[in-house]
Amino acid sequence: MSLQKLTLRHREKLLNQRSLVLWFTGLSGSGKTTLSDAMEEELFKREYKTYILDGDKIRDGLCKDLGFSEEDRTENIRRVGEVANLMRDSGLIVLSAFISPFAKDREVVRETIGAENLVRIFVDCPLEVCEQRDVKGLYKKARSGEIKKFTGISSPFEIPEESELVLKTAEHSIEELVGTILEFILPKIKLVSE
Ligand code: ADX
Repeated sequence: MSLQKLTLRHREKLLNQRSLVLWFTGLSGSGKTTLSDAMEEELFKREYKTYILDGDKIRDGLCKDLGFSEEDRTENIRRVGEVANLMRDSGLIVLSAFISPFAKDREVVRETIGAENLVRIFVDCPLEVCEQRDVKGLYKKARSGEIKKFTGISSPFEIPEESELVLKTAEHSIEELVGTILEFILPKIKLVSE
């Protein structure tokens, strides 16, 4: 059989799934990484092919030349949006976990990936709770001024107004929230034979 040109549809058929990007946004310590890890595990169990792009890892590699000024965050999110879209075009289900604090940058991501290929997930957790958790000790450093321009303390986080899902990690368990995401995305990633 000649394929003429290999397209996403061929790749999706081979992988037996529809590709998609899940974009987690929220404060540092809100639970983006925990949720995306737990979500990936559930998808893996169901034999979906996935990959996680996470701020902490990407900033050690692809974006290690960037800091936390508004311009650098914009460039960080632009690059990640492009990479997520390429990976989606390869047929994968991509889970992307970045603070992505600015509405205009999230809008660029939506334009790059396409609304139909994207599920925006606002990991909604009060600043006080994130600060109390302070898993990495960064809020303490931000309060003392050791870290400048820290999101939620000395740099803004613009609340997303148009997310497909809003998950309150201070009120629900991770298992419960993973269930909510699964219910929403399973119909989207299931390949229905044509
Ligand atoms: S984003 O704003 O550009 O989307 P990104 O998600 O890549 O941020 O990286 C956030 C992670 O970098 C945080 O979870 C935290 O561990 C670390 N970090 C270091 N400095 C800062 C800062 N000034 N503001 C926010 N996060 C920071």
